[in-house]
Amino acid sequence: MAQATVTVLGNEPIATIRPEIYSHFAEHLGRCIYDGMWVGPESPIPNIDGWRTDIVEALRKIKPPVLRWPGGCYADDYHWRNGIGPAEDRPKTINLWWGKVIDDNAVGTHEFIRLCELIGAKPYLCGNMGSATPQEMREWLEYCNYPGDSTLAETRAENGSSEPFDVEYWGVGNENWGCGGNMTPDEYAAKYRQYSTFMHDMSDTKLFLIACGPNGNNPDWTRRFMDNLSSVWHHPRVNGFAAHYYCGTAGTATEYDEAQWYQLVKRATVIEDLIIQQRAVLDGYDPKREIGLIIDEWGTWHPVEEGAPDYGLYQQNTMRDAIVAALSLNTFNRHADKVVMTNIAQIVNVLQAMILTQGAKMLLTPTYHVYAMYTGHQGAKSLRALVDSPMAGCATKAEPGDIELVSASASIKGERLLVTLANLSATEAVDVKLSSVSLGEFNKATATMLGTGDIHAYNSFENPESVKPACTKATTDGDNWVVTMPAGSVCSVILER
Ligand code: AHR
Repeated sequence: MAQATVTVLGNEPIATIRPEIYSHFAEHLGRCIYDGMWVGPESPIPNIDGWRTDIVEALRKIKPPVLRWPGGCYADDYHWRNGIGPAEDRPKTINLWWGKVIDDNAVGTHEFIRLCELIGAKPYLCGNMGSATPQEMREWLEYCNYPGDSTLAETRAENGSSEPFDVEYWGVGNENWGCGGNMTPDEYAAKYRQYSTFMHDMSDTKLFLIACGPNGNNPDWTRRFMDNLSSVWHHPRVNGFAAHYYCGTAGTATEYDEAQWYQLVKRATVIEDLIIQQRAVLDGYDPKREIGLIIDEWGTWHPVEEGAPDYGLYQQNTMRDAIVAALSLNTFNRHADKVVMTNIAQIVNVLQAMILTQGAKMLLTPTYHVYAMYTGHQGAKSLRALVDSPMAGCATKAEPGDIELVSASASIKGERLLVTLANLSATEAVDVKLSSVSLGEFNKATATMLGTGDIHAYNSFENPESVKPACTKATTDGDNWVVTMPAGSVCSVILER
């Protein structure tokens, strides 16, 4: 049995963990929206205003702070006016990026805002800078947020909402280095300056404008974008700067050997390099640290499941995905002083999903359970957690190198200390000793474990509860608490006085 120690330093607070770090992403892609979350009000599947009741209820439990929509690449060609007014009058449009399927625009702005209300999330609208004008983006903002009696606000009222939607988060473009227009950083910066100039606060709701960051950890994109912005006398508003990082796959979603386990886990840990380097570059331009770092697309990307269309990006979700989620969330918590939002891709039926559906059936993925176990971090104060652990995967000569066996993060809210752990080993169980400095004694521990040592475990429609969190024992020697983690498992420990 491997041994590791995690020491939580009460005298080294990092920052409050913004709940937004636990945010999500929904795109008109494959079966995420249609035949996923949205079944329409007339469906025999129980729904609230067209949104599946079982999904709404499950999502509420993980407290999604923000939901990004309508893409992704889909946003780069989305024209919001197609999605308002009576459903039967809405045009049928082609989903250019995802299979060229027809979108009848049954889900538009009002429906999306309703979903956000139902699940308790704030909306994040990603504006089209790829194939639309600054006028179109600015008018969407007015339609959503203006409380007065402009024609657009009146149209919103005629369409069912006299109250403004007060949308705070606006993406000024998406992947403009790719599907959002294949721009250079300088071209994007020039467009960002232009589009953002017209994105004004329309009410008391202060806008949070999000610029498109790099594809992975590309410091050149960031430097050139920031240089270009600094070259004009009126520096445009950038509240968030959003990188995308997919760690990809090794093997398939459900079939991988030990070496492939480590390959993918290692690639997931590299997200910390991205954060460290990107925040360092941003600090050079923004010494007061007013720009938040965002990762509004991240996660695994496996080959699609056999029989499913390529464009739909439907994949299973195993304990390996749970490990990727857990170690990534631990990383975000540790950088809570810079990372202000992250949105795992995507919420239902696409890539590293929380929920999978098949007809009227629905299952919760191992990744969903990680989010459930981590909800206590939202709004808590992140504390430095030192990990003393052996390396994992050395024996397999895994590419591209070795990783520490235990990933950890810790936060405190009131008298409750939450420590979340992932055992990254494919084969070894580990005893993790939890100690603390400057936090006094904790005399009660509640530990929850996800994973029993089967690193390939997943939930299927035949066995939807193969993987689910279970209570586990934490023992104490009077000073420290110890939990025993099976190979490839995730654990949350709540310590109380
Ligand atoms: O999440 C799937 C796609 O990945 C998004 O549409 C795009 O932004 C990214 O390339």
